Amino acid sequence: MIETRRHQGFGPTGVSSPGKVAFMCGIVGYVGPRDARSVILAGLKRMEYRGYDSAGIALVADGHIDIRKKSGKLANLVAELESNPIPASHQGIGHTRWATHGGPTDDNAHPHLGAAGRVALVHNGIIENFATLKAELSAQGVVFTSQTDTEVAAHLLGRAIESGLGLVEAMRSVVARLEGAFTLVAIDSQTPDTVVAARRNSPLVVGVGQGENFLASDVASFIEYTQEAIELGQDQIVEIKPDSIEVTGFDGSPATTRPYHIDWDLSAAEKGGYDWFMRKEIFEQPKAVADTLLGRINTDGELVLDEMNIEVSELRTIDKIIVVACGTAYHAGLIAKYAIEHWTRIPVEVDIASEFRYRDPVIHRSTLVVTISQSGETADTLQAIRHAREQHAKVISICNTNGATIPRESDAVIYTHAGPEIGVASTKGFTTQLIACYLLGLYLAQVRGNKFGDEIRSLVEELEAIPEKMDQVLDDLETVLTLAGNSLSEPSILFLGRHVGYPVALEGALKLKEISYLHAEGFAAGELKHGPIALVDKGLPIFVVVPPQGRDQIHDKVVSNIQEVRARGARTIVLAERGDEEAMAFADVFLPLPVVPTLFQPLLAILPLQVYACEVATLKGYDVDQPRNLAKSVTVE
Ligand code: M6R
Repeated sequence: MIETRRHQGFGPTGVSSPGKVAFMCGIVGYVGPRDARSVILAGLKRMEYRGYDSAGIALVADGHIDIRKKSGKLANLVAELESNPIPASHQGIGHTRWATHGGPTDDNAHPHLGAAGRVALVHNGIIENFATLKAELSAQGVVFTSQTDTEVAAHLLGRAIESGLGLVEAMRSVVARLEGAFTLVAIDSQTPDTVVAARRNSPLVVGVGQGENFLASDVASFIEYTQEAIELGQDQIVEIKPDSIEVTGFDGSPATTRPYHIDWDLSAAEKGGYDWFMRKEIFEQPKAVADTLLGRINTDGELVLDEMNIEVSELRTIDKIIVVACGTAYHAGLIAKYAIEHWTRIPVEVDIASEFRYRDPVIHRSTLVVTISQSGETADTLQAIRHAREQHAKVISICNTNGATIPRESDAVIYTHAGPEIGVASTKGFTTQLIACYLLGLYLAQVRGNKFGDEIRSLVEELEAIPEKMDQVLDDLETVLTLAGNSLSEPSILFLGRHVGYPVALEGALKLKEISYLHAEGFAAGELKHGPIALVDKGLPIFVVVPPQGRDQIHDKVVSNIQEVRARGARTIVLAERGDEEAMAFADVFLPLPVVPTLFQPLLAILPLQVYACEVATLKGYDVDQPRNLAKSVTVE
């Protein structure tokens, strides 16, 4: 059944000061011979995961700016452009928004205009001093048409242009006035073939084409046209023209940039016949895991980690590790603790990034902070890195996004090679983060001499066998899909696990909550009797992750936990090793897993839970890739 779904259509990154809660937006800019409208709309389509409550476009044609913007999803803007066509152009900007200041209305949608419509500007981030600037501009007679912070920047830009500055100089004067996090991209009707942008604590990449150039929040936006990109640094302004890209610092000094090649193509950023990006990304996990493991053993049989720019001598003196992350990445961190402590005997703490610096963590030069972030732009995690480095700790980041802010601000990075993750619910992000955590644990064990080389190689071989086992799980989903169909009216669903199964339970519950809006909780199975068991009532579905049979004590204890909840009327859905008769005996529904070492079981056990959540949300008719109230990453605290 799943085969049918796989092939018949069921089937890609800023920070401000504390206190603001916001998400992120998607930004596109283009200049070149193509039809700018088409390029920008296609780019926004692939940026929609970053925000989807309103969208807009502004183009320059015949010395005039035309603008269209609509609240709601991008489809509303497309419909607007059909009924109210915009003149053809080769220079423009677009925006897909996730509201922060001002609700998701047509008026609040970007772009915003300045200088009586001469300039248009889009923005990602938060301008923290916007109220002061707005009061100042209002007192000078400027009339605002939106409730956004962005419009302040548009008017400042307009006034700078009207004072006779060129677009780049005008942008420089604007950023000098702003506090907060921002990517700004702007066009001027009187500056042909030019788009100018500025970035501080918010992502922006340049797509380098032949006779054309692109700007975007994420390379996925322009991957259809070029796989060459330039990563903009902090506090830089870029001016793109069809044949030139000029980057300068906010102070006007020449800037250093880092060009790079994107090693995936358009097909990775499209659904490829699946109904949802999430479903596609679930099925991409065997390959993503294999890709993340690729090239990690050298010709001497040693584990090597590229971009591990921390001296071995320093790694040998580490006496504590703190893993810091958010959401799904935090769950990966919880699993990392079990593996790293087991292999290296270094104590590992795991922190939710938003809590980390506020607990005044004990950090020394001998503390290694490991951050995990798929996007590499999560503000809470980035602030944790800054705090850790201020305390002289070394920071290694595990990240899926080449050149994102988090790896740039870390001492070392382990890239996961999952390709773009577009569905808001993280799937291949999670499993590849686990691989990177395992590799880090084994690397530390290697350099510190906790394990012999052959032991490490044998564990890496076990990891290399995982993709095939993932395929086995993903080829046998009939039961999960049926289960999902029967779960639509459940008021609540619980997930239990022990040891590394506990974070899997947390992650299974998170997946279900975020896309199906069902109440779901994950618990440590042994903790149940200390309170949560009172929730168990007749018919309550409970997923239980059972450790492999080799782990005698834990295995048997989890089997006892299954009996406890079953005795109170729960309906048990048991994930356990294939052939685990003891677990099977107490399962209302049994989901067999291939045999793997205990520490690696999460790589397999999470798969049915991801599929289950995806299917429940699909059957409930929800937008799986763009769940309500959520965006792909949270780029301010
Ligand atoms: O990009 P990051 O890995 O830093 O994102 C962290 C969380 O926001 C993210 O994992 C979130 O919890 C996912 N939507 C969960 O599916």
